[in-house]
Amino acid sequence: MISLEELEEWKKKRDAVILAHYYVRPEVQALADYIGDSYFLSKKATELANKTIVLCGVTFMGESAKLLNPDKTVLMPDLAADCPMAHMVTKETVQAARDQYDDLAVVCYINSTQEIKSWSDVCVTSANAVKIVKNLPNKHILFIPDRNLAHFVAAAVPEKEFIYNEGFCIVHEFMQVEELLDLKAEHPDAKVLVHPECNHKIIEIADFIGSTSGIINFAGESSDKEFIIGTECGVLTKLKERRPDAEFYFPETTPTCVNMKKITPEKVLHVLKTGENEIHARPETEGAAKNALARMLELAG
Ligand code: 13P
Ligand code: SF4
Repeated sequence: MISLEELEEWKKKRDAVILAHYYVRPEVQALADYIGDSYFLSKKATELANKTIVLCGVTFMGESAKLLNPDKTVLMPDLAADCPMAHMVTKETVQAARDQYDDLAVVCYINSTQEIKSWSDVCVTSANAVKIVKNLPNKHILFIPDRNLAHFVAAAVPEKEFIYNEGFCIVHEFMQVEELLDLKAEHPDAKVLVHPECNHKIIEIADFIGSTSGIINFAGESSDKEFIIGTECGVLTKLKERRPDAEFYFPETTPTCVNMKKITPEKVLHVLKTGENEIHARPETEGAAKNALARMLELAG
């Protein structure tokens, strides 16, 4: 285990703040100044006075923090912690849709690379996608890269026409509805709370569908005592903190994002000490990607 005194010392030296996503290990969440979902983390990054941000999450989160704060130093504890879905769309897909529809909006899930964001009109997260798409003037929406979140948003905004892309989250896509139905049979009073990155069979049986914060807040404010959770297991730390009296059940093949789990306290301290793993925005796509993110913050309020 690392020395917390040493961590504090290095945080002071670098004027650093630690941001963490709910999916990182409990021992990393314990070091964080702020923990949240992707929307919270991108917004929070713009509100902090610190010179350095240590982003405990996957690469697209560090890239987003850097794009929104070009003057700050953004450090990633592990640059190999990359989200596979963040790469799952090609420029040809975007160009083909732009050629076909005059009134197209390219809506890009924040789980995407800087380059993919730069091809897009606006970014969204799972917490604000419905609100933003509803308020866009465009009738046709190309939603990239996640097809599951796209279908969830399309169902909530039926007045728009969606063009889909075949991207998915490897953790949520492979969760099996049967696993959740088995849990439901064992715990018939439990409410089923799932992330919109889950496949449609899971979405159909859910009592609540929302971002990681949405799921945590739903359970936190509910009078129910049992919950079946259809998202990555890292949310359990905050769920237990908010509801020590409740029971939480996860699918037997515990959904685990191996990339989020690459972040360890040792790596957090290491980047603070060495300044390694700094994120640099690539100049070719920086302006357009930043605009798509800034538009998200403006439209999400
Ligand atoms: P949210 O925390 O924004 O719901 O996103 C989930 C996710 O998969 C992040 O990688
Ligand atoms: Fe990417 Fe899925 Fe991991 Fe989130 S949980 S970082 S979408 S692989």
